[in-house]
Amino acid sequence: MSARITAGLFMSHVPAIGAAVDKGLTEEPYWQPLFEGLKTSRQWIADNPADVVILVYNDHGNAFSMEMIPTFALGMAASYQPTDEGWGPRPVPIVEGHPELSAHIAQSVIPAGFDLTLVNEMTVDHGLTVPLSMMYDQPAAWPTKVVPLAINVIQHPAPTGRRCLELGKAIRAAVETFDDDLNVQIWGTGGMSHQLQGARAGLINPEWDHAFLERMINDPEGMADVPNVDYLREAGSEGVELVMWLTARGALADLNGGPAPTEAHRLYHVPASNTAVGHLIIENA
Ligand code: DHB
Ligand code: FE
Repeated sequence: MSARITAGLFMSHVPAIGAAVDKGLTEEPYWQPLFEGLKTSRQWIADNPADVVILVYNDHGNAFSMEMIPTFALGMAASYQPTDEGWGPRPVPIVEGHPELSAHIAQSVIPAGFDLTLVNEMTVDHGLTVPLSMMYDQPAAWPTKVVPLAINVIQHPAPTGRRCLELGKAIRAAVETFDDDLNVQIWGTGGMSHQLQGARAGLINPEWDHAFLERMINDPEGMADVPNVDYLREAGSEGVELVMWLTARGALADLNGGPAPTEAHRLYHVPASNTAVGHLIIENA
């Protein structure tokens, strides 16, 4: 039996959420409503465990620094050490990889026209570890293996939403030809609207965020054709992180000839640090 993608998960990756978990602040009034909403997510993942998560995220100048910024970078390693700016490296378990699945994705996706950068050794920052903490809290070891896929959204120009969605479709085709009985989830992280710099620092646009969540369910093909400048204008300079959600969305069944997916959970919470937290769990019928 081959591997299959069974769900897409989507969430912001705000570093302060990771710090709240690490410092035991999740019951504080500021954080309690968010973590209340995540109870449903944590129950869902306990009921629907993954063997491997393909985790689409962006590095924030930590693994790649500013000297070299690959547009699409696939982690090939057996493990990834946490790193970070700000609060520093998080006290979280090392992230175990799945080199065989990584190699298979590379062998399938590159000939299909997506020129990934292959990264044999790298660290992973809050873009990858905060979503793990949101779903799994503080385990002694992460309960899933992770294939990291880092997308550049920090130095202009980021790839288009269309390119990201099509890459997701190619990843689904790759997973479905991997000859191992693996339950694979794909997670898209980042967003929602936020701007950390310049005159509009602090920008949050709930209307736009809600429309984006809705379109992620019902109109991902239309959303993929929204130009990046619209994200910058409406969702702020860091809101363009949301194109990464489209990679995960492109890997779900309905965009690849399969049945419509089911929305299992939706959460929207403002604020967390400088951003709105958006979160979706979409089951892949
Ligand atoms: C914040 C959000 C991010 O996505 C990020 O990478 C860094 C900081 C914030 O809201 O503070
Ligand atoms: Fe970020």
